[in-house]
Amino acid sequence: MRSLAALLVLASVAVAADKPVAPYTKPTCIAHRGASFDAPEHTLAAYELALKYGADFVEPDLQLTKDGVLVCLHDTTLERTTNVKDVFPDRAKEVNGKKTWPVAEFTLKEIQMLDAGGWKDKKFAGQRVPTFQQMIDAVKGKAGIIPETKAPEVYGKLGLNMEKELMAVLKANKLDAPGADPKTPVVIQSFSAESLKALRKDHACRLPLVYLFTVDQTAEKLKEMKEYADGIAPNKALVLKRPGLVADAHALGMSVTVWTCRSGSTGQFKDVKAEMRHMLKELKVDAIFTDNPDQFPKE
Ligand code: G3P
Ligand code: CA
Repeated sequence: MRSLAALLVLASVAVAADKPVAPYTKPTCIAHRGASFDAPEHTLAAYELALKYGADFVEPDLQLTKDGVLVCLHDTTLERTTNVKDVFPDRAKEVNGKKTWPVAEFTLKEIQMLDAGGWKDKKFAGQRVPTFQQMIDAVKGKAGIIPETKAPEVYGKLGLNMEKELMAVLKANKLDAPGADPKTPVVIQSFSAESLKALRKDHACRLPLVYLFTVDQTAEKLKEMKEYADGIAPNKALVLKRPGLVADAHALGMSVTVWTCRSGSTGQFKDVKAEMRHMLKELKVDAIFTDNPDQFPKE
Protein backbone atom coordinates (compact mmCIF):
# COMPACT_ATOMS: atom_id res chain seq x y z
CA MET A 1 0.00 0.00 0.00
CA ARG A 2 1.30 3.45 -0.90
CA SER A 3 2.19 5.69 2.00
CA LEU A 4 0.30 8.94 2.51
CA ALA A 5 3.52 10.91 1.81
CA ALA A 6 3.97 9.19 -1.56
CA LEU A 7 0.36 9.93 -2.49
CA LEU A 8 0.82 13.58 -1.57
CA VAL A 9 3.93 13.80 -3.77
CA LEU A 10 2.04 12.23 -6.68
CA ALA A 11 -0.84 14.64 -6.17
CA SER A 12 1.48 17.65 -6.09
CA VAL A 13 3.13 16.52 -9.35
CA ALA A 14 -0.29 16.12 -10.98
CA VAL A 15 -1.27 19.65 -9.88
CA ALA A 16 2.11 21.04 -10.96
CA ALA A 17 1.70 19.56 -14.42
CA ASP A 18 -1.50 21.53 -14.97
CA LYS A 19 -0.77 24.73 -13.14
CA PRO A 20 2.44 26.78 -13.19
CA VAL A 21 4.41 26.58 -9.97
CA ALA A 22 4.75 29.67 -7.75
CA PRO A 23 5.82 32.41 -8.13
CA TYR A 24 4.34 32.07 -11.62
CA THR A 25 0.55 32.12 -11.95
CA LYS A 26 0.37 31.28 -15.66
CA PRO A 27 2.78 30.26 -18.44
CA THR A 28 5.18 33.15 -18.10
CA CYS A 29 7.00 35.14 -20.75
CA ILE A 30 10.24 36.76 -19.63
CA ALA A 31 11.76 39.30 -22.00
CA HIS A 32 15.43 38.31 -22.03
CA ARG A 33 17.52 41.51 -21.77
CA GLY A 34 14.28 43.23 -22.92
CA ALA A 35 12.90 42.54 -26.40
CA SER A 36 16.49 41.94 -27.43
CA PHE A 37 15.89 40.40 -30.83
CA ASP A 38 14.38 43.65 -32.12
CA ALA A 39 16.11 46.27 -29.95
CA PRO A 40 19.56 46.61 -28.38
CA GLU A 41 19.75 44.45 -25.23
CA HIS A 42 19.48 46.20 -21.89
CA THR A 43 18.39 49.58 -23.18
CA LEU A 44 15.20 51.39 -22.28
CA ALA A 45 14.14 50.89 -25.91
CA ALA A 46 14.38 47.11 -25.43
CA TYR A 47 12.51 47.21 -22.11
CA GLU A 48 9.75 49.44 -23.50
CA LEU A 49 9.33 47.21 -26.54
CA ALA A 50 9.06 44.17 -24.24
CA LEU A 51 6.19 45.90 -22.43
CA LYS A 52 4.53 46.72 -25.75
CA TYR A 53 4.82 43.03 -26.71
CA GLY A 54 3.07 42.07 -23.46
CA ALA A 55 5.93 40.35 -21.61
CA ASP A 56 5.01 39.20 -18.10
CA PHE A 57 8.50 39.91 -16.75
CA VAL A 58 11.45 41.96 -18.00
CA GLU A 59 15.01 40.85 -17.28
CA PRO A 60 17.84 43.16 -16.25
CA ASP A 61 21.28 41.59 -15.84
CA LEU A 62 23.14 43.64 -13.23
CA GLN A 63 26.71 44.96 -13.01
CA LEU A 64 28.23 47.55 -10.67
CA THR A 65 29.96 50.76 -11.66
CA LYS A 66 33.20 51.98 -10.04
CA ASP A 67 31.10 54.22 -7.80
CA GLY A 68 28.86 51.33 -6.76
CA VAL A 69 25.73 51.93 -8.84
CA LEU A 70 23.77 48.99 -10.28
CA VAL A 71 23.51 49.20 -14.06
CA CYS A 72 21.82 46.92 -16.56
CA LEU A 73 24.40 45.09 -18.65
CA HIS A 74 25.03 41.45 -19.47
CA ASP A 75 28.83 41.57 -19.75
CA THR A 76 31.35 42.56 -17.09
CA THR A 77 32.93 44.67 -19.84
CA LEU A 78 31.61 47.48 -21.98
CA GLU A 79 32.99 46.91 -25.46
CA ARG A 80 30.45 44.48 -26.97
CA THR A 81 27.38 46.64 -26.42
CA THR A 82 28.69 50.21 -26.29
CA ASN A 83 31.06 52.52 -28.15
CA VAL A 84 33.48 52.67 -25.19
CA LYS A 85 36.51 52.05 -27.43
CA ASP A 86 35.75 55.28 -29.32
CA VAL A 87 34.94 57.39 -26.26
CA PHE A 88 37.65 56.08 -23.92
CA PRO A 89 40.33 54.59 -26.22
CA ASP A 90 43.07 55.02 -23.60
CA ARG A 91 41.21 53.31 -20.76
CA ALA A 92 41.48 49.74 -22.07
CA LYS A 93 43.06 46.98 -20.02
CA GLU A 94 44.92 44.22 -21.75
CA VAL A 95 43.72 40.72 -20.81
CA ASN A 96 45.20 37.72 -22.63
CA GLY A 97 46.44 40.02 -25.39
CA LYS A 98 42.96 41.54 -25.90
CA LYS A 99 41.84 45.05 -25.05
CA THR A 100 38.92 45.22 -22.67
CA TRP A 101 37.02 47.93 -20.77
CA PRO A 102 35.67 46.56 -17.43
CA VAL A 103 32.43 48.09 -16.14
CA ALA A 104 33.94 48.28 -12.64
CA GLU A 105 36.62 50.74 -13.81
CA PHE A 106 34.13 53.38 -15.00
CA THR A 107 31.90 55.69 -12.99
CA LEU A 108 28.20 55.93 -13.73
CA LYS A 109 28.74 59.38 -15.23
CA GLU A 110 31.31 57.96 -17.65
CA ILE A 111 29.18 54.93 -18.55
CA GLN A 112 26.18 57.10 -19.28
CA MET A 113 28.23 59.01 -21.87
CA LEU A 114 28.33 55.85 -23.98
CA ASP A 115 26.08 54.91 -26.86
CA ALA A 116 24.50 51.53 -26.09
CA GLY A 117 22.20 51.30 -29.11
CA GLY A 118 24.08 52.17 -32.30
CA TRP A 119 25.84 48.77 -32.50
CA LYS A 120 22.47 47.12 -33.12
CA ASP A 121 21.04 49.58 -35.60
CA LYS A 122 21.56 53.25 -36.41
CA LYS A 123 17.96 53.96 -35.43
CA PHE A 124 18.85 53.10 -31.82
CA ALA A 125 21.86 55.42 -31.62
CA GLY A 126 21.75 57.50 -28.45
CA GLN A 127 20.33 54.76 -26.21
CA ARG A 128 22.22 54.70 -22.90
CA VAL A 129 23.16 52.03 -20.38
CA PRO A 130 20.29 52.29 -17.88
CA THR A 131 20.72 52.16 -14.15
CA PHE A 132 18.66 49.52 -12.38
CA GLN A 133 16.60 52.41 -11.00
CA GLN A 134 15.85 53.68 -14.51
CA MET A 135 14.84 50.16 -15.51
CA ILE A 136 12.46 49.97 -12.54
CA ASP A 137 11.00 53.36 -13.41
CA ALA A 138 10.25 52.10 -16.93
CA VAL A 139 8.72 48.76 -15.90
CA LYS A 140 7.13 49.19 -12.45
CA GLY A 141 3.37 48.79 -12.55
CA LYS A 142 3.50 47.29 -16.05
CA ALA A 143 5.30 43.93 -15.65
CA GLY A 144 7.38 41.85 -13.27
CA ILE A 145 11.13 42.30 -12.86
CA ILE A 146 13.64 39.45 -12.66
CA PRO A 147 17.10 40.88 -11.94
CA GLU A 148 20.15 38.65 -12.27
CA THR A 149 23.15 39.15 -9.99
CA LYS A 150 25.93 38.82 -12.58
CA ALA A 151 29.47 37.98 -11.50
CA PRO A 152 28.91 39.10 -7.88
CA GLU A 153 32.29 37.56 -6.97
CA VAL A 154 34.09 39.96 -9.33
CA TYR A 155 32.59 42.92 -7.49
CA GLY A 156 33.07 41.33 -4.07
CA LYS A 157 36.83 41.32 -4.68
CA LEU A 158 36.61 45.08 -5.30
CA GLY A 159 34.84 45.69 -2.01
CA LEU A 160 31.40 46.06 -3.59
CA ASN A 161 28.40 44.04 -2.43
CA MET A 162 25.94 43.39 -5.23
CA GLU A 163 23.31 41.69 -3.07
CA LYS A 164 23.29 44.59 -0.60
CA GLU A 165 22.92 47.16 -3.40
CA LEU A 166 20.18 45.12 -5.06
CA MET A 167 18.11 44.84 -1.88
CA ALA A 168 18.62 48.55 -1.14
CA VAL A 169 17.26 49.57 -4.55
CA LEU A 170 14.33 47.15 -4.26
CA LYS A 171 13.55 48.47 -0.78
CA ALA A 172 13.67 52.09 -1.93
CA ASN A 173 11.08 51.15 -4.57
CA LYS A 174 8.96 49.12 -2.11
CA LEU A 175 9.58 45.98 -4.12
CA ASP A 176 11.59 44.03 -1.56
CA ALA A 177 8.82 41.76 -0.25
CA PRO A 178 6.68 39.18 -2.05
CA GLY A 179 3.38 40.71 -3.17
CA ALA A 180 4.50 44.25 -2.29
CA ASP A 181 3.33 45.46 -5.69
CA PRO A 182 0.95 42.94 -7.30
CA LYS A 183 1.56 44.52 -10.71
CA THR A 184 5.31 44.16 -10.33
CA PRO A 185 6.26 40.77 -8.93
CA VAL A 186 10.01 40.45 -8.37
CA VAL A 187 12.06 37.26 -8.70
CA ILE A 188 15.85 37.23 -8.28
CA GLN A 189 18.04 34.89 -10.34
CA SER A 190 21.72 33.96 -10.30
CA PHE A 191 24.27 31.42 -11.51
CA SER A 192 25.92 31.97 -8.14
CA ALA A 193 24.57 29.80 -5.33
CA GLU A 194 26.62 31.96 -2.95
CA SER A 195 24.78 35.04 -4.14
CA LEU A 196 21.37 33.44 -3.53
CA LYS A 197 22.49 32.18 -0.11
CA ALA A 198 23.74 35.65 0.79
CA LEU A 199 20.45 37.21 -0.27
CA ARG A 200 18.50 34.83 1.90
CA LYS A 201 20.80 34.70 4.94
CA ASP A 202 22.62 38.06 5.06
CA HIS A 203 19.90 40.26 3.59
CA ALA A 204 16.77 38.46 4.84
CA CYS A 205 15.44 38.37 1.30
CA ARG A 206 11.98 36.77 1.12
CA LEU A 207 11.55 37.23 -2.62
CA PRO A 208 11.49 34.09 -4.77
CA LEU A 209 15.02 33.02 -5.78
CA VAL A 210 15.88 31.10 -8.94
CA TYR A 211 19.11 29.19 -9.54
CA LEU A 212 20.53 29.15 -13.09
CA PHE A 213 22.62 26.22 -14.28
CA THR A 214 24.03 24.53 -17.35
CA VAL A 215 24.69 20.98 -16.10
CA ASP A 216 21.94 18.42 -15.45
CA GLN A 217 21.07 17.91 -11.79
CA THR A 218 19.78 14.83 -9.98
CA ALA A 219 16.69 14.93 -7.79
CA GLU A 220 19.05 14.68 -4.81
CA LYS A 221 20.95 17.79 -5.96
CA LEU A 222 17.69 19.66 -6.48
CA LYS A 223 16.76 18.88 -2.89
CA GLU A 224 20.02 20.55 -1.78
CA MET A 225 19.27 23.55 -4.00
CA LYS A 226 15.90 23.98 -2.35
CA GLU A 227 17.74 25.30 0.69
CA TYR A 228 18.55 28.50 -1.20
CA ALA A 229 16.34 28.50 -4.32
CA ASP A 230 12.60 28.37 -4.91
CA GLY A 231 13.00 27.53 -8.56
CA ILE A 232 15.48 26.27 -11.11
CA ALA A 233 16.47 27.80 -14.43
CA PRO A 234 18.25 25.24 -16.58
CA ASN A 235 19.58 25.92 -20.04
CA LYS A 236 16.85 24.75 -22.48
CA ALA A 237 19.16 22.01 -23.84
CA LEU A 238 19.03 20.25 -20.47
CA VAL A 239 15.25 19.84 -20.44
CA LEU A 240 15.20 18.82 -24.08
CA LYS A 241 17.74 16.09 -23.27
CA ARG A 242 16.11 15.01 -19.99
CA PRO A 243 12.50 16.19 -19.72
CA GLY A 244 12.23 14.43 -16.32
CA LEU A 245 14.20 17.33 -14.83
CA VAL A 246 10.97 19.37 -14.91
CA ALA A 247 8.98 16.73 -12.99
CA ASP A 248 11.85 16.32 -10.50
CA ALA A 249 11.73 20.04 -9.73
CA HIS A 250 7.94 20.19 -9.63
CA ALA A 251 7.84 17.26 -7.21
CA LEU A 252 9.85 19.45 -4.83
CA GLY A 253 7.55 22.42 -5.42
CA MET A 254 10.24 24.25 -7.40
CA SER A 255 9.36 26.26 -10.51
CA VAL A 256 11.17 25.68 -13.81
CA THR A 257 12.27 28.56 -16.04
CA VAL A 258 14.24 27.79 -19.21
CA TRP A 259 16.57 29.97 -21.25
CA THR A 260 16.97 31.19 -23.92
CA CYS A 261 14.47 30.87 -26.77
CA ARG A 262 15.41 33.10 -29.67
CA SER A 263 14.61 33.37 -33.33
CA GLY A 264 17.24 31.74 -35.55
CA SER A 265 18.48 29.39 -32.83
CA THR A 266 15.65 26.90 -32.45
CA GLY A 267 17.28 23.53 -33.27
CA GLN A 268 14.68 20.94 -34.30
CA PHE A 269 11.79 23.42 -34.14
CA LYS A 270 10.54 25.31 -37.18
CA ASP A 271 10.55 28.63 -35.36
CA VAL A 272 10.81 30.19 -31.92
CA LYS A 273 7.05 30.08 -31.33
CA ALA A 274 6.98 26.31 -31.99
CA GLU A 275 9.96 25.87 -29.68
CA MET A 276 8.29 27.80 -26.85
CA ARG A 277 5.00 25.95 -27.38
CA HIS A 278 6.86 22.63 -26.98
CA MET A 279 8.56 23.86 -23.80
CA LEU A 280 5.25 24.90 -22.27
CA LYS A 281 2.83 22.23 -23.51
CA GLU A 282 4.99 19.11 -23.75
CA LEU A 283 7.77 19.73 -21.25
CA LYS A 284 5.55 21.68 -18.81
CA VAL A 285 8.05 24.39 -17.95
CA ASP A 286 6.58 27.33 -16.04
CA ALA A 287 8.41 30.24 -17.62
CA ILE A 288 10.68 31.04 -20.57
CA PHE A 289 13.37 33.65 -21.12
CA THR A 290 13.03 34.76 -24.71
CA ASP A 291 14.56 37.41 -26.96
CA ASN A 292 11.24 37.34 -28.85
CA PRO A 293 8.45 38.07 -26.34
CA ASP A 294 6.15 38.94 -29.26
CA GLN A 295 6.30 35.27 -30.34
CA PHE A 296 5.35 33.83 -26.94
CA PRO A 297 2.38 31.45 -27.47
CA LYS A 298 -0.66 33.00 -25.84
CA GLU A 299 -3.08 30.11 -26.29
O1 G3P B 1 19.32 34.68 -16.89
C1 G3P B 1 18.80 33.76 -17.79
C2 G3P B 1 19.69 33.80 -18.95
O2 G3P B 1 19.71 35.15 -19.28
C3 G3P B 1 21.07 33.32 -18.59
O3 G3P B 1 21.93 33.60 -19.56
O4 G3P B 1 24.00 34.71 -20.14
O5 G3P B 1 21.85 35.55 -21.05
O6 G3P B 1 22.43 35.92 -18.68
P1 G3P B 1 22.57 35.03 -19.86
CA1 CA C 1 20.49 36.79 -17.63
